[in-house]
Amino acid sequence: MTVLSTRPSRSSNTLALYRRHFGSGRAAVGAFLGGMAETESQGPWVHTDDGRRFLDFGGYGVFILGHRHPDVVRAVRRQIDTHPLATRVFLEPVAARAAAALARHTPPGLNHVHFVNSGTEATEAALKLARAHGHDRLVTTRNGYHGKTLGALSVTANPTYQDPFRPLLPDTTQVEFGDAAALRKVLEEHGKRCCVILEPVQGEGGVRVPPDGYLREVGALCREHGAFLVVDEVQTGLGRLGAWWGVDGQCVAPDALLAGKGLSGGVVPVAAMVAGADAYRPFGRDPYLHTSTFGASPIACSAALAAVEVIERDDVPGTAARLGAHLLAGVREACAPYLGELVTEVRGRGLLLGIEFAREQAVGELVLSLTARGVLVNHSLNSTRVLRLTPPAVVGEDEIAFFLTELTGALRDAAARLRSPSS
Ligand SMILES: Cc1ncc(COP(=O)(O)O)c(C=O)c1O
Repeated sequence: MTVLSTRPSRSSNTLALYRRHFGSGRAAVGAFLGGMAETESQGPWVHTDDGRRFLDFGGYGVFILGHRHPDVVRAVRRQIDTHPLATRVFLEPVAARAAAALARHTPPGLNHVHFVNSGTEATEAALKLARAHGHDRLVTTRNGYHGKTLGALSVTANPTYQDPFRPLLPDTTQVEFGDAAALRKVLEEHGKRCCVILEPVQGEGGVRVPPDGYLREVGALCREHGAFLVVDEVQTGLGRLGAWWGVDGQCVAPDALLAGKGLSGGVVPVAAMVAGADAYRPFGRDPYLHTSTFGASPIACSAALAAVEVIERDDVPGTAARLGAHLLAGVREACAPYLGELVTEVRGRGLLLGIEFAREQAVGELVLSLTARGVLVNHSLNSTRVLRLTPPAVVGEDEIAFFLTELTGALRDAAARLRSPSS
């Protein structure tokens, strides 16, 4: 396939700097996708330096509020003009208000908040908290994704990312996602030493929606065996699945819940681990036990506070449920002619959708073809045959129609190419 843009752009210098300073791999990916550099964004649209714009249905799940949500930008601007980074000596009101806002919406009892700067740090905080209570045996789900720092990587169940860094944390077991009986077996053997971590719907694992009742059973099993339960909602939380959290309505009482991505409001990186009072006690007792210089900074917390307020005010979970149902139906219709041949399944919940292909190669073809057509989507890091869609809740009917038209064209082209004898 040819490169996407032949118009002159300022990106050649960026590409050269990438090659020199970030290495050939990332530069090659950028070059493969046309070599453009992204320079501006607003709502669902990203603009590149060759004058083009792209509808962002990817963004690795960050942009539930789109790019640069105006209310979040306003709050962050105000914070920059007053006090962006704290001394960490005095109390800081924005972090306190952001914690209260988030805790208004977390599942009952989860009201102690530890702000960090990324999803993987939220995982680290939860794993350390579990350890402080003696839960030193980790149980994760196959293809689960929880970040790439060493602790989090131990539960990110993908050998491609794990193997170069072994040994990772010891005593880690993987169980099949969606299989409560497999989890029961591990818990029967190791009981309250266990810290179980899982996503309500696996995102990077290929948009895997578990069977009905699975999360409830996981919660009950963890209670029964005294295990520590961490629910990772970094990708699924804050409205993405059409509810505030993937565990809503599932009668699950996690010991810790992780949030990230959308908490940024599409403006400033921020994530959080939220725990109940008992679970949080080791961190609460000694505020220096687990810290980082920039954690809970006023600038990040101003973004988090504004993002939560927008999600609440605009009923983003309700919008995601409505738009997601419409989009899923449209994607299913677009994929219907290729089911069984090119496409094996279309699935999703809310605004987290996956198209599973029969062949890995098709995902690359679709990413490239959709990019050429002005649409950004993502592959799934832990499931190479699944194309993942994480559109913002700020798209309109016209943008969904544009996406479906381009998806239809991209599927038609991919099917023709894969059918051709030379492919
Ligand atoms: C469920 C989940 N947990 C944790 C992470 C790690 O977040 P980050 O990339 O911000 O470290 C991700 C990132 O994709 C994720 O999807």
